[in-house]
Amino acid sequence: MSITKESELIGMKEISKVVGTTLKLMREYAKVGMSTKELDEYGGKILESFGAKSAPYETYGFPGYTCICLNKEVAHGIPSETKIIHEGDLINIDVSAELNGFWSDNGGSFVIGEDLHNHQPLVNASKEILKKAIGSIKGGVKISDVGYLIETEAKKSGYTVIKNLAGHGVGRSLHEEPENILNYRVRTNRKRFKKNTTVAIETFISTKSNNAVELKDGWTLVGNKGGYVTQHEHTILVTDKQPVILTGSNGIWE
Ligand code: CO
Ligand code: CO
Repeated sequence: MSITKESELIGMKEISKVVGTTLKLMREYAKVGMSTKELDEYGGKILESFGAKSAPYETYGFPGYTCICLNKEVAHGIPSETKIIHEGDLINIDVSAELNGFWSDNGGSFVIGEDLHNHQPLVNASKEILKKAIGSIKGGVKISDVGYLIETEAKKSGYTVIKNLAGHGVGRSLHEEPENILNYRVRTNRKRFKKNTTVAIETFISTKSNNAVELKDGWTLVGNKGGYVTQHEHTILVTDKQPVILTGSNGIWE
């Protein structure tokens, strides 16, 4: 959304702090032996305590308050009593919600306990690439140039990017203009980031795959060529200098 007055910025800061804090608390709560359903319900209660409404649950009829992916799952993972968290698992939590008509979105991948399967390098690359990508954004920068940066950095680290998942405008709804802030360059995309707008920037960095495909449950996405995928996401305010990280409370860079 385009921020035209102080009250809108305050609204975006409030909901962004809520989703960021919820993600951080869920990450701290996630433990070996816990089901993803239990973790999701904890997150749902935190959102409720702030008076916020889960975006996927309210808007898309998603069967959960947050999206939780384990291991090979890439996005839109459905929280379930039968999905148990194990030592060394790669987990992704994505929290998006609405408060007072404002929407914000953030997510992060991390390793549970000891890194038994050596997922940490992929997690670290994804975090660093998000940092570089966001650091390159200001009013007037081409969206396709940020895609190019993400893809180039991923390649440099020996990884691929998922081409059919993307960041997006956010604010008055969960997904709005500009749609498709992709992790690679589309030369025909001449759109530019605009000062005083709020957007969600997210990485989809993979060890093998370049597309996400849907499972039979109608929600869960996995990589088309297998391997693992990490996602890190912040909602930011674009300025004419460095962006303001609105979901900084999630602590994904700490
Ligand atoms: Co998200
Ligand atoms: Co998003």
